[in-house]
Amino acid sequence: MLSQAALEMMMMMIMELCAQQNSNVTGTVPALPLESQHTPDANNYVPVMQLPAFNWNKPNQALHSVTKRHRKLLKTNTAIRPFYRYSSSPKPTHKSWQNFYHKQKTRRRLIKEVCGKYQNISRTITPHQVSRIYVEDRHKLLYCEVPKAGCSNWKRVLMVLAGVASSTHKINHDTVHYSNHLTRLDSLARHAVSERLRSYTKVLFIREPMERLVSAFRDKFESPNSYYHPVFGKPIISKYRVNASKSALRTGSGVTFQEFIRYLLDVHRPIGMDIHWEPVSQLCSPCLLDYDFIGKLETIESEANFLLRKVGAPKNLTFPSFKDRNPEAVRTSKHLAQRYFTQLSASERQKVYDFFYMDYLMFNYSKPFQDVF
Ligand SMILES: *[C@@H]1O[C@H](CO)[C@@H](O)[C@H](O)[C@H]1NC(C)=O
Ligand SMILES: *[C@@H]1O[C@H](CO)[C@@H](O)[C@H](O)[C@H]1NC(C)=O
Ligand SMILES: *[C@@H]1O[C@H](CO)[C@@H](O)[C@H](O)[C@H]1NC(C)=O
Ligand SMILES: *[C@@H]1O[C@H](CO)[C@@H](O)[C@H](O)[C@H]1NC(C)=O
Ligand SMILES: *[C@@H]1O[C@H](CO)[C@@H](O)[C@H](O)[C@H]1NC(C)=O
Repeated sequence: MLSQAALEMMMMMIMELCAQQNSNVTGTVPALPLESQHTPDANNYVPVMQLPAFNWNKPNQALHSVTKRHRKLLKTNTAIRPFYRYSSSPKPTHKSWQNFYHKQKTRRRLIKEVCGKYQNISRTITPHQVSRIYVEDRHKLLYCEVPKAGCSNWKRVLMVLAGVASSTHKINHDTVHYSNHLTRLDSLARHAVSERLRSYTKVLFIREPMERLVSAFRDKFESPNSYYHPVFGKPIISKYRVNASKSALRTGSGVTFQEFIRYLLDVHRPIGMDIHWEPVSQLCSPCLLDYDFIGKLETIESEANFLLRKVGAPKNLTFPSFKDRNPEAVRTSKHLAQRYFTQLSASERQKVYDFFYMDYLMFNYSKPFQDVF
């Protein structure tokens, strides 16, 4: 049987091929005019921020960088680009559409504010920073993948948009993740990346950080997993469990939530970070990349469908509601997440909150526990 690592290697090879085939854009959709030409609402118009400089020769960071990256964020222009930027789009008259626009404006403004306040060092765009972003050239979409925040269903949608699948119902989980024929932005040449970052609709969907964390823990450690148990479970158990049994040390199965959190907060982690528990503020570089659309898992279906209509997706394509892994397990709710956190001490809860503080701040989630500050 193939290990997850081998599968990921295969997936990367497949993507390489896709990238070569797709490297010259031949989208069927005509280029969308940028807001510099016309915007429906002059009051809403704010100049586009300049794309930060590129540093395309910087080698990619290791998949699991061991040290915790610090949170100094870069300095950018505080201009907010209105989401209604295409003159071809209908002026929103419907009340619910206005609400969507308003929500986007508020969310993007907050990100700009937080980034402006906390970022300091100016940085450049590197392949690593765009490595979580998928490209859909026909509808000119860039989607930053946030695991445990609807990403499997987003990949299904991208596959349908790209024309590699006819319906989201026909795509199973493994196809989504291992042979999805989707292009990653970092596989393209520098000029192709820059052009897409400038003109495509950049999309990010996020989730309440504690719920995302508990969801990742349950998915990777409470269910059988031939990659996370040996690769993460073994070093976690061996470092944090007193008197671990031989079988626990051999399989890496049975990591407790408390052990997992001790690993997460450890500056000397025995094994590196992972995208499933990496803060979105690092995973998708929202201070650097000026996302056009910030969706939330909590309201993903209505927001994703709004976005799909907005980018001219086929009318019969709606955002699916599949739950892939362990379909019998209940989805991680706020209530369930809080139950996991009761296993921790007040100081551990505080440290987890600090760990995800930027996500809480820039995506306007309220603090998860009474006792944190
Ligand atoms: C891409 O297409 C353009 C125009 O169709 C052509 O001039 C250019 O050589 C192509 N580039 C590559 C890398 O194929
Ligand atoms: C920003 O960086 C400068 C030097 O690079 C430093 O002196 C200053 O303290 C930093 N400010 C913050 C808020 O981190
Ligand atoms: C949507 O319509 C197209 C044809 O217009 C069809 O090929 C496709 O299967 C339909 N998709 C779904 C999800 O029904
Ligand atoms: C670990 O095992 C030793 C010997 O079996 C025992 O004396 C000790 O109390 C155990 N420690 C814990 C924390 O269970
Ligand atoms: C944050 O969200 C709350 C609702 O939960 C809202 O009232 C508030 O205006 C939002 N703040 C910002 C800065 O977007």
